[in-house]
Amino acid sequence: MSSTLATVITGASSGIGESLARQLAASEPQALVLVARRTDKLALLAQELKTHHGVRVETIGLDLEKPGAAHELLAAVQALGLEIDTLINNAGFGINEELADMPLDRVQGMMQLNMVALTELTHAVLPGMRSRKQGRIMNIASVAAFQPCPRFAVYGATKAYVLSLSEALAAEERKNGIKVLAVCPGATRTEFHDVAGNHGTLATKLMDTPDTVAKTALRAWKCGCSSVVTGVMNKPLPLINRVLPRCAMTWLAGKTVAR
Ligand SMILES: NC(=O)c1ccc[n+]([C@@H]2O[C@H](COP(=O)([O-])OP(=O)(O)OC[C@H]3O[C@@H](n4cnc5c(N)ncnc54)[C@H](OP(=O)(O)O)[C@@H]3O)[C@@H](O)[C@H]2O)c1
Repeated sequence: MSSTLATVITGASSGIGESLARQLAASEPQALVLVARRTDKLALLAQELKTHHGVRVETIGLDLEKPGAAHELLAAVQALGLEIDTLINNAGFGINEELADMPLDRVQGMMQLNMVALTELTHAVLPGMRSRKQGRIMNIASVAAFQPCPRFAVYGATKAYVLSLSEALAAEERKNGIKVLAVCPGATRTEFHDVAGNHGTLATKLMDTPDTVAKTALRAWKCGCSSVVTGVMNKPLPLINRVLPRCAMTWLAGKTVAR
């Protein structure tokens, strides 16, 4: 029996993931699988999308910080009779704190969610995409990927990993018909800043909306870009990083999140 192709979005219960789900449901007929821990929020969103757009929407409640969670997710998708044609690795978090003051389990959870689960999911979907000679992968990185980020040291490092991985993968998989995109949003008005304890910092003075970030990301995907920086103010960041000394960029990044 052939499976139905689906789009899986991790971290779809709020923020950028929720906006991506709304915009995809409005523009594509493909089945959506929404993943996060808060199943009540996923269920509400799924109901809304089904009612307004008539698309199939499934929800999976899962903590992707748990080792092995990626495989649990893949098994759950398969049990629904779905095959992943589009993967959006969006779930992620950061904490505004010096590394020495952060509980080790939060550090480990951040690395597991932002890097390990993302890589395991990506690795698992590639063979199917290769055999179908089509597929799309979107990984949400951050402008924190471009320079070291004091108070977000681990977070910034995880996002540098996501950006590097995605751009390399885009080059590897282009010949196989698979589009891979890294999205680098700047500060965006979502629950990220509640979780991070980031309110009141310079970085949160001027924020994009998650809808704008999602729109830019989906447009970049269509264009076949391997990475995109969202927000007009953030666009010059990669270039500035090449011009200014690394220590200057590190100092500047620290200033934007100082409390
Ligand atoms: N907001 C910004 O300023 C900003 C800037 C650059 C990059 N980003 C990146 O954008 C992505 C989306 O974040 P956002 O800004 O939209 O923040 P958000 O509103 O806090 O969304 C994060 C999403 O990830 C899910 N999530 C968190 N921990 C999870 C876990 N252990 N297992 C499964 N799902 C989990 C959350 O759902 P549950 O809590 O229900 O599990 C939520 O749906 C993240 O990768 C973030 O690093 C954000």
